[in-house]
Amino acid sequence: MTPSLLHPALLDRYGKLPLPRYTSYPPANLWGPRDDSLARLALSSLDSRPLSLYVHVPFCRKLCLYCGCNMMVTRSQELVERYLQALDREVAQVASLLPARCPVVQVHLGGGTPTYLDEAQLARLWQILASRFDIPSGIEASIEVHPPVTSTTQLQTLAQLGFSRVSMGVQDFDPVVQKRINRLQPFEQTRDLITSARQLGFVSVNIDLMYGLPLQSTERFAKTLDCVATLRPDRIALFGYAHMPTLRTHQAVFRSDELPDPATRAALFELSLQRLLALGYVYVGLDHFVLPEDELLTARQHGQLRRNFMGYTTCKSSDVLAFGPSSISELGRHYLQNEREVVPYCERVESGALPVVRGYSLSPDDVIRRDLIMELLCNLVIDKPALSVRYGIDFDHYFASELSALSPLIADGLCGWEGDRLKILLPGQLLLRTVASIFDATLHKPAPRHHAAAV
Ligand SMILES: C[S@@+](CC[C@H](N)C(=O)[O-])C[C@H]1O[C@@H](n2cnc3c(N)ncnc32)[C@H](O)[C@@H]1O
Ligand code: SF4
Repeated sequence: MTPSLLHPALLDRYGKLPLPRYTSYPPANLWGPRDDSLARLALSSLDSRPLSLYVHVPFCRKLCLYCGCNMMVTRSQELVERYLQALDREVAQVASLLPARCPVVQVHLGGGTPTYLDEAQLARLWQILASRFDIPSGIEASIEVHPPVTSTTQLQTLAQLGFSRVSMGVQDFDPVVQKRINRLQPFEQTRDLITSARQLGFVSVNIDLMYGLPLQSTERFAKTLDCVATLRPDRIALFGYAHMPTLRTHQAVFRSDELPDPATRAALFELSLQRLLALGYVYVGLDHFVLPEDELLTARQHGQLRRNFMGYTTCKSSDVLAFGPSSISELGRHYLQNEREVVPYCERVESGALPVVRGYSLSPDDVIRRDLIMELLCNLVIDKPALSVRYGIDFDHYFASELSALSPLIADGLCGWEGDRLKILLPGQLLLRTVASIFDATLHKPAPRHHAAAV
C-alpha cells in the first residue's frame, strides 16, 4: 500500500481531540437563548447584500440507525401540511422585516429528506420562497435527496423549478452494512438516479459516504469505493460516523463490538483518501472531495472559496436566511437558530412569533477570529497584512500567543510561512480543524496547542 498521507504519529497527536466542526464561529454549543425581538433586530440590520436561502425539511420515511441529523420519521400528511403552512408564514414574516430587497444567489433544501415531499409539495415550497424573494434563474439551487424515496419525476420537477445540483446520501453500498444501519439502498437504484439527474441537466452530483459505521471493514469498504468509482460523482463528502448515543438515543442499538475500533476507523479513512485521490479527486478539506475541474478549486486559487452552514461554496454571499425547524441563519454578526422540533416550531409561527430560540451575536474579536478561521478552512491561508488592514490590528501583537502556539504545528509540517502568509500544507489539510483551533478563543485546553514534540 502507498505510504500513509497522514503520518500515524500526527494522527495520534492531533487527530483524537474533539474539535468543533467550525460550520460557525463561535461553535453552536456556546450560543444562548434568543427571543423574537432580538431576531427582529438582527433581520432589520441586513443591508442589500446577496443572500443564501436554506430550508430545512425535517421529514424522513424510515430511520437510518446512525442518523445524527435533525429529522423525524412520520407518515402524517397532516403534519406535513401544517409544516408547509408554517413555513409559508415564517418566510412571509421574515421577508417583511428585511429593510431592503436582497438579491438571492443560492438556495439549498436540506433535511431530513427534502424529497419526502411529492412533486406538488416541492413546487409549493419553491413558490413560498419565490413569492417573497427575487430568485433569478440560473442561481445555485441544490437539494439533498435520499435515493430510495426519490423518483425521476421528482427530479424532473426540481429541474423545472431551477435546481441544478443534487446531493445523494449513500454511506455504504455493502448490503450487510446497509441492513445493520436500516438503510437498504441497492447500488443500481442510486446509479439510475444519478443517470437521470445528469440527463435532466443537473450540473453537479454529490454523494455522501460514511466510515466508522457498524460492521464496516477495509475489505468491504474497498468494494463500496469501487462502486463509487463507476458512478464518478462530481463531488464526494466522506463523513466519519459521529456516535452520540446519549444525544441520539436510536444510535444506542449499535454495540461497541460492532463499531470499527479506532485503528480500523483510521484505516477506513486512509483507504478512502488514497482511493479517491488515485481516482483523480482533489481533497478540498473538511470531508469534501471534488473532481479537478470543479469550480470550488478555481475559487480557492483566487482566494474566493467560502463556507457556510450548507458547505463549501463559490457564492459571494455571507448572509444565510434559514427557514424551518432547527435551521440556522447567519446575518452579519448574528447567528439565529429556530426551534428544533416540528410541532413547537409550527406553534411558534402560528402564534405570530418568529420561531427563533437560540443565537449568538459576535463581538468584534469574534468577527476577526471567524474571518481568519473561515479563510483558513476555505483558502488554506492566513494573510497577515490583509487581516491587519481589514481590522486595524497589529497582527503579531494581537495574536502573539496564537503565533507561538503554532510553532509545534509548523515543526510538524502542518503549515508554514511564505513571507507574511501562513499556508496550510498537505498534512495540515487533513487536520484543518487542528490548525483552526489555535485561533479559537473559546477553547481553553492547552494540549495540543502547546505540545512541542516533532514527528
Ligand atoms: C440529511 S442527510 C442526506 C439526505 C438524506 N436524508 C439521505 O440520508 O440520503 C445528510 C448526511 O449527513 C450524514 N450523517 C447523518 N448522520 C450522521 C452521523 N451520525 N455522523 C456523520 N454523518 C452523518 C450522512 O452522510 C447523510 O447523508
Ligand atoms: S440519514 Fe437521511 S434519510 Fe436517514 S434518517 Fe437521517 S436524514 Fe433521514
